[in-house]
Amino acid sequence: MTMKQIIDVKLRTRKVDFSQCKTDMLAVGLFSDVKKLDKLNAELDSKLGGGLKQLIRLGDLKAKEGAGEVVYSNGKIEAKRILLVGLGEKKKATLNTVRKAAGNAANKAVAMKMGIISLALHKAFGGKFDLSDMARAMAEGTHFGGYRYDEFVTGSEDGRAKSLRAELIDPDPAEIKKLRKGLASGMIIGAAQSYARTLANRPANIIYPAKLAEAARKLARESKRLTCTVFNEKQLSAKGMGGILAVGSGSQNKPRLIILKYTPSTKSARGRPNIALVGKAITFDSGGISIKPASNMDQMKLDKTGGITVLGTMKAVAELAPPLNVLGIIPSAENLPSGTSYRPGDIITTFSGKTVEVLNTDAEGRMILSDGLAYAAKQKCDVIIDVATLTGACMVALGQHMAGLFGNDEKLIKQLQKAAEDSGERVWPMPSGDEYAEEMKSKIADLKNIGGKWGGACTAAAFLRQFIGEAKWAHLDIAGMDIFKKATAFTAEGSSGFGVRLLATYLTHLVTDRA
Ligand code: BES
Ligand code: ZN
Ligand code: ZN
Repeated sequence: MTMKQIIDVKLRTRKVDFSQCKTDMLAVGLFSDVKKLDKLNAELDSKLGGGLKQLIRLGDLKAKEGAGEVVYSNGKIEAKRILLVGLGEKKKATLNTVRKAAGNAANKAVAMKMGIISLALHKAFGGKFDLSDMARAMAEGTHFGGYRYDEFVTGSEDGRAKSLRAELIDPDPAEIKKLRKGLASGMIIGAAQSYARTLANRPANIIYPAKLAEAARKLARESKRLTCTVFNEKQLSAKGMGGILAVGSGSQNKPRLIILKYTPSTKSARGRPNIALVGKAITFDSGGISIKPASNMDQMKLDKTGGITVLGTMKAVAELAPPLNVLGIIPSAENLPSGTSYRPGDIITTFSGKTVEVLNTDAEGRMILSDGLAYAAKQKCDVIIDVATLTGACMVALGQHMAGLFGNDEKLIKQLQKAAEDSGERVWPMPSGDEYAEEMKSKIADLKNIGGKWGGACTAAAFLRQFIGEAKWAHLDIAGMDIFKKATAFTAEGSSGFGVRLLATYLTHLVTDRA
C-alpha cells in the first residue's frame, strides 16, 4: 500500500511592499486591546477603502487569540485575501502568540487549499520581541498549523492542500536579514516536530520497537553527525537490561534499546556538558497483565511519544549542528498481556543491578526508563533529561496544559523553564524528594514499581531518580500533553509532538548562553 505523503511545508523570506505582495493570502495580526490600527493595518485599511476598520466596528472580529477573519481585497491590493489574525491582549503577548498566529494562518491555508501565504504577523508586535526570534516562531507555527495526519486516508478528496508554501515578508532589507536568521532554525525545528508527530500518530501495528529502530537508523544514515546503535533482545539479555526485557516479554514485537549519538563538527563543544536525552517509547501500552479498561485504550499508541520526542530532537540537533555532545537514548517495548508477559509479583534485576518488585505491570514506563537512565549514567553524561508519558496522576495534577517538571538541579530546572516559555511547550515544577522515594522501597527487593495512592507522578519521578548516578537530572512527565483530542484554530487533532520544540530550544539556548 502506498501511503499518502504528509503535507510538504516550505518557507522563505521575500522583500516586498505589503500592498504589492502577490499571494493567496496576506496574514496580519491584530491585538484586542490596541485601539488604533498599527501602521501596516492602517495602510491596508486605507487601500481597501476602510474594509478593516468596518470589520472591527461591526464586531465581526473580536481579535481574541484563535480568531481569524478573511477579508477579500477585490484587486485593491495585490494579495487575493487578507487574514486578520486575532492576537489577544498585547500585554499578555509572548513569542508563543507569534507562533500561534502563524499556526492559525497555516491551518486556514491548508483547509482552504491555498498555494502560497505571506506572513506579516511580526509587524503588529513592533519591537516587543527580537525579529529573528519572531521569524523562528512563525516558521515553527507554520509547520505546526499546516500539519495533518492522513497517511492512511485513501479517498482522493482529502480536503487539504498537498503542499504549503509560506513566506515571511517585509519591505526593509535589514529586517529581511534578521527574519532569515530565525527562519532557518524555525524551519528545522518545525519540520522535526512534524516528523515526530507523524511517527507518533502511526498505530502500533505499523510502528513497533524494531520499526522505531529503523527510523533512528535512517536518521543516522542521512546525517554525517549522527551514529545509531541498536541493542536487540539478545544484546539486551547479554547486557542485563532486565527492565526493558520484562516489559517487552509479552509481545511478539521484541524490545529494543536505540541509541543516537550526535558529535559536533568542531572542537568548540569542549567545556560544554555531555547531555543525554532519554525517552520512553512504549509502542502500545495495554497495561499488560494489569490490563487497562477498554475505553480510550487506542490512545495508548501514543505511549511512545517521549522516545519519539527524543528522535525528533536528535533530527533537529543534527541539522542545527550546535557545539554540544548529545546522546539520544530510547528504550522501546510493547506492553501486552500474554503467556510470556511479566507479572505482578515478579522481581526484576535491572541494568543498574538494582532489583525491582513489580506490583503493577501498567507501571511499565519506569521499568524501561530505569535501564535507559542507568545506561546514560554509565556513559558519564553530565546532564540527563528524560521525557515520558509516565503517569495518569500527572494529568490529574496539571491537566493537559503543562508537563510536570522534576529534577535535582535548580539551574537545569530554570533552563528548562526558560525554554518552555520561549518554545510555548509549557512545564510546571513538581517535587520528587526523599519522602516520595521512601514510598518506593520494597520489603523483598530494592524497589517496588508503584507507590501509595497519592502523588503518583511524584513517586514515579522518585523511582526514576534511583537510576541517574551522579548526573544532573530532569524528568518531564508529558502524559496528556502527547495528544490534541480535538482540532483547534492552531492545529489538527492527534499527536502534538510535544517536547521537540522545548528540548531543541533548551539546547540552542545553551549555545547562545541565553538560558
Ligand atoms: N502510559 C501510562 C500513563 C498515561 C496515562 C499516559 C494516561 C497518558 C495518558 C503509564 O504507563 C501508566 O499506565 N501509568 C499508571 C501507573 C500506575 C499503575 C502506578 C497510571 O498512571 O495509572
Ligand atoms: Zn502503563
Ligand atoms: Zn505507559
